[in-house]
Amino acid sequence: MMMLIKCGRVIDPGNIDGVCDIFIKDGIISAVVAHDSEPESPESSGRAVDMIVDAAGKIITPGLIDMHVHFREPGYEHKETIETGCRAAACGGFTAVCPMPNTNPVNDCRRLTEYMIQTADTACGVRVYPIAAISIGQDGRQLCDYADLKGAGAVAVSDDGKSVIDSGLMRKALERASQSGMVVISHCEDPGLAADGVINEGEVSRRTGLAGIPNAVESIMVMRDIALCELTGAPLHIAHVSTRESVRAIREAKKRGVPVTAETAPHYFTLTEKAVERYWTHAKMSPPLRSEKDRLAILEGLADGTIDVIATDHAPHSVTEKDTDMKKAPNGIIGLETSLPLSLKLVESGILSFSDLVRKMSKNPASIIGVNSGIYVDGPADITIIDPELRHTVDAASFQSKSRNCPFDGWEMKGKAVMTIIGGRIAYNDRHFVP
Ligand code: DOR
Ligand code: ZN
Repeated sequence: MMMLIKCGRVIDPGNIDGVCDIFIKDGIISAVVAHDSEPESPESSGRAVDMIVDAAGKIITPGLIDMHVHFREPGYEHKETIETGCRAAACGGFTAVCPMPNTNPVNDCRRLTEYMIQTADTACGVRVYPIAAISIGQDGRQLCDYADLKGAGAVAVSDDGKSVIDSGLMRKALERASQSGMVVISHCEDPGLAADGVINEGEVSRRTGLAGIPNAVESIMVMRDIALCELTGAPLHIAHVSTRESVRAIREAKKRGVPVTAETAPHYFTLTEKAVERYWTHAKMSPPLRSEKDRLAILEGLADGTIDVIATDHAPHSVTEKDTDMKKAPNGIIGLETSLPLSLKLVESGILSFSDLVRKMSKNPASIIGVNSGIYVDGPADITIIDPELRHTVDAASFQSKSRNCPFDGWEMKGKAVMTIIGGRIAYNDRHFVP
């Protein structure tokens, strides 16, 4: 089976930026030819093509990778299964995702990691690279067997959802994970200081009377983990950065050569604490939406490279769970089907170039977790085709995800993924773009 993707602008930072024809044979990229260098047609190239995708006016990137999602299987399948999560991912333009281990039971052993990978094999083709727990049961007491987890297919470890409170244990986690060739992903939150806070401590918490979570809840742990990263020399990745103090600490650490990387999520550069009054429990997440000053600092961190990755922290919860008061509602919003359009706004507004965006949504996550990303001959054909001009309205009711906890429902967007190709197979094809 030979597929030709014709005439799209291929952007693979550090490798290609130009209008090219891509030939895919049996799931592998067999040729990438500049479209204007020679009038290449399937006939003149001597290649027998079974399918042509006309990508004129589209952007073609290495498959997008979301290194921070929550699929709720096993344990909470009413919120999301691996299959529905993978479908949501493909629909959002992602060819690979990393599910966090806070399932029930927690993914802290080979059996669970293998279960996730095997279950994904029968889904829509999206590659699933599980993140296993740092500690058994994510209870912060005893480290998991990282070599065994790595052998089973885990790509990183994290107790996401909470911090590892014991600094001695966190030090050992960094050392052992790095010996097994994995990065530690840290959820930075000091629970004592967060106390029973539900939203950002600031203007809106004062006005509504809801208990606040100060910025220091995050930055205290970011600074501790940077210190441990410096002490051990082991790689550390900071999850969902939300505050200006965290951005500053990570920027300074990087300047000193500390091997730390960081991610943020689209909601932290799009919304502020003000969204809480409008969207209520659909704007409740951990860490919380912060102030405008913090949002601007996140944008600066993205622009200057302090923040390496845009990840969704896709956190599905059912309608009934979210349909309650702010104190009782679970943390989190879904993000797989809105992440790319929201991130494309950064390109539109000149904060990031298209290449920067591809770095943050594919190349950097790939290099942090140690997987493939790129458009090159003999490489796997994991490709996202983006229509940067396509205007559409977010309709959460039509999402592939099982959940609907999305504050962006009804938003007008410009640009989205129109085709997601994984291993040469079309995993998603937008109804507006049927070749
Ligand atoms: O908002 C969040 N939701 N933050 C987390 O750290 C966990 C996540 C979840 O699992 O729902
Ligand atoms: Zn998370």
